[in-house]
Amino acid sequence: MSETTHRDLIVIGAGPGGYVAALHAAHHGKRVTLVEKRFVGGTCLNVGCIPTKALVHAADVFQTAKNAAKDGILADHVGVDFARVQAKKDAVVETLVKGVAFLLEKAGVETVRGTASFAGPHAVDVACDDGIRRYEADNIIIATGAKTRVLPIPGFDLPCVMDSEGILSLRSLPASLVVVGAGIIGMEFAFAFARLGVKVDVLEALPDILPMIDREAVTRLSRFAKQQKIQIETDVRIARVEACPEGGAEVFFTKNDVARSIRAEVVLSAVGRVPELSGLQLEQAGIAIAANRGIAVDDRMRTNVKGVYAIGDVTNLVQLAHAASRQAIVAVDDLLGHGGKMEYRYIPSVLYTTPAVAWVGRTEADMAKAGLACKTTRSPFGANGRALIQNQPLGFVKLVADAATGELVGATILGEGADELIATVTVALQNGITAEALEATIFAHPTVSETIHEAAAGILGAAIHYTE
Ligand code: FAD
Ligand code: NAI
Repeated sequence: MSETTHRDLIVIGAGPGGYVAALHAAHHGKRVTLVEKRFVGGTCLNVGCIPTKALVHAADVFQTAKNAAKDGILADHVGVDFARVQAKKDAVVETLVKGVAFLLEKAGVETVRGTASFAGPHAVDVACDDGIRRYEADNIIIATGAKTRVLPIPGFDLPCVMDSEGILSLRSLPASLVVVGAGIIGMEFAFAFARLGVKVDVLEALPDILPMIDREAVTRLSRFAKQQKIQIETDVRIARVEACPEGGAEVFFTKNDVARSIRAEVVLSAVGRVPELSGLQLEQAGIAIAANRGIAVDDRMRTNVKGVYAIGDVTNLVQLAHAASRQAIVAVDDLLGHGGKMEYRYIPSVLYTTPAVAWVGRTEADMAKAGLACKTTRSPFGANGRALIQNQPLGFVKLVADAATGELVGATILGEGADELIATVTVALQNGITAEALEATIFAHPTVSETIHEAAAGILGAAIHYTE
């Protein structure tokens, strides 16, 4: 082992948690070492958010071109060149990863390639190609992310059974796909692949899909799934997967005690992600794990060991890139002595199906569970000129207000552009902007965002362009 290097801060993991923490600390004059075992940018940039959305975009372009006649545009011989779809996706990933590496270098962050493990509460050993390096620092941030949960079911180790990372690296489109798990990952891939022309079946263990999303949005989304010929089976118990002699696999399951099976060229296992703790040797530092199996943290991202923080997926609190980045800022602000707490109330989520669903704050079901009465309104895209031009009559903006106080507490948006529209509502909720203030704000016309304005009016019982 070489000599020990002393730094102000060691960050373990260079995903949207870790690299943001490293940059923020370096911008405030800290000497930072960032340790990364695989890829700068983490899951999100390399095998998560970015590549999946590149696939979704390609599928959308394909469908738009195929259905262009609806808008009077004649596009013949529309097809998918999957190698080029992948090449475009890889190019976007490369641009972003290089951009992050450049920012780290410019900020003076030392990026070390290797696997980190604790050697003590403030000491980290990094196994690099050229041996083990020891680092010490008063502050350490653990940002090692999460990994795919592996189902202990016979056949899930077959080569054609893949996780999200495996399926992203396919070089040709399969003819058919079985998705196990109708969660966020499962549904995004189901829509993207179905819209690229793949036959898709989805198998979900729970009686309902996407329980965290507004029920009305899920009902409509299920209709869109049907239109894409995505077959969703809920309440299933997967028994095993067997390789087929002609290639691909057969997934055996039971539903209502009836044994069934589906064959497909590829099976995607998308049954959740668990914190990545392997090899960290947390016990060497005495770092505690929470009941949710993530690293236990308080609202400043502090672990039980002084000076040691954990952020992002490894805390298993919210598995979203933008939440990891916010937690990074909170942790670094705390070690800088700037204060500030992590707030979880208004973290927006987006399901990138087509159409997308975006939500923030509380749903009607959340309010009911909390024993609070609520008022809701649904402003339909069908009454919005721009949405109709964009062939999106079935979308909506639903606002939820606390019936007792009138305070806006949540929103769900279904439809094209929901991913962008949710930001407006998030700003409103985060800053306590009232329905009155939103209604008094002038929105540009014709824009789909006018549906948010209309919904604010709707909550006040004053919608102009729709009736409840
Ligand atoms: P990660 O991004 O996972 O980064 C952790 C890093 O730590 C990795 O690079 C890993 O190699 C490294 N590491 C682990 N252990 C060690 C060690 N011992 N030593 C050194 N390095 C180590 N979220 C969204 O908000 N929007 C999306 O659209 C979205 N899409 C997704 C699609 C897919 C298919 C997947 C899988 C996830 C998606 N997510 C999305 C979730 C998002 O990727 C994560 O929430 C986010 O990456 C978490 O950031 P992180 O920094 O905590 O961890
Ligand atoms: P998830 O928890 O969202 O969904 C997993 C699904 O698999 C659940 O519906 C679960 O009931 C089902 N399941 C579990 N065991 C099963 C079994 N044996 N048989 C059939 N179904 C089974 O987890 P997912 O989709 O893996 O995503 C992990 C996380 O990644 C998400 O929670 C999200 O935070 C993040 N993510 C975010 C995205 C976004 O923001 N757009 C996109 C992709 C992932």
